[in-house]
Amino acid sequence: MHSNQTKILILNGPNLNLLGSREPIIYGSHSLEQIKRLCETRATELNVEIDFIQTNHEGEMLEHIHDGGARFQGIVLNPAAYSHTSVALLDAVLAVDVPVVEVHLSNIHKREEYRKKSFVSFGAAGVIFGFGATGYILALDGLVAKIGANKMVE
Ligand code: DQA
Repeated sequence: MHSNQTKILILNGPNLNLLGSREPIIYGSHSLEQIKRLCETRATELNVEIDFIQTNHEGEMLEHIHDGGARFQGIVLNPAAYSHTSVALLDAVLAVDVPVVEVHLSNIHKREEYRKKSFVSFGAAGVIFGFGATGYILALDGLVAKIGANKMVE
C-alpha cells in the first residue's frame, strides 16, 4: 500500500451487522462481511484503499465521520435508521471537507413514510438507494469519480 493512495472510509450504521438474516426480502441475502469483500475487490480495481466499519452507536458514527474528514479523501455512508432521525449526523457530514456518498440497500422511497426523509441527504454529494449490495459498488465508483474530478480542478 502506498501512503499517497486515495483512502475511502465506508461507514455502516445500526443493525447492518445483522445483514444476511435481517429482513432479506428488503435488504437482500448478502451479509455485511460479503459486502465488505465486494467493496475490497472493487477498491483494488479502482486502486483505492478502504476502511470498512460498522457501529450500532450514533456517537461512534460521528467520531468516525470526523476521523474520515481528517484521514480519508471521501466517505461512503449507510447511516441506516439514523438517516431518518439524526441532525447530528447531518451536521457531522456538513462539517467535514470531503465528499460523502449516502447509500441505502433498500429503496427508501418505496417503504414507510418515515423512511422517505433522510436528514443526511442534504449534506451528501450523492445518494444511491434500491440496488442492494451493488449500491455500495455504485457509491464507490461515484465517489472515486468525484474525488478524481475534484483533484483536476484543484
Ligand atoms: C437502510 C434503510 C433504513 O431505513 C433502515 O433503517 C436501515 C437500512 C438501507 O440500507 O436500506 O437500517 O439504510
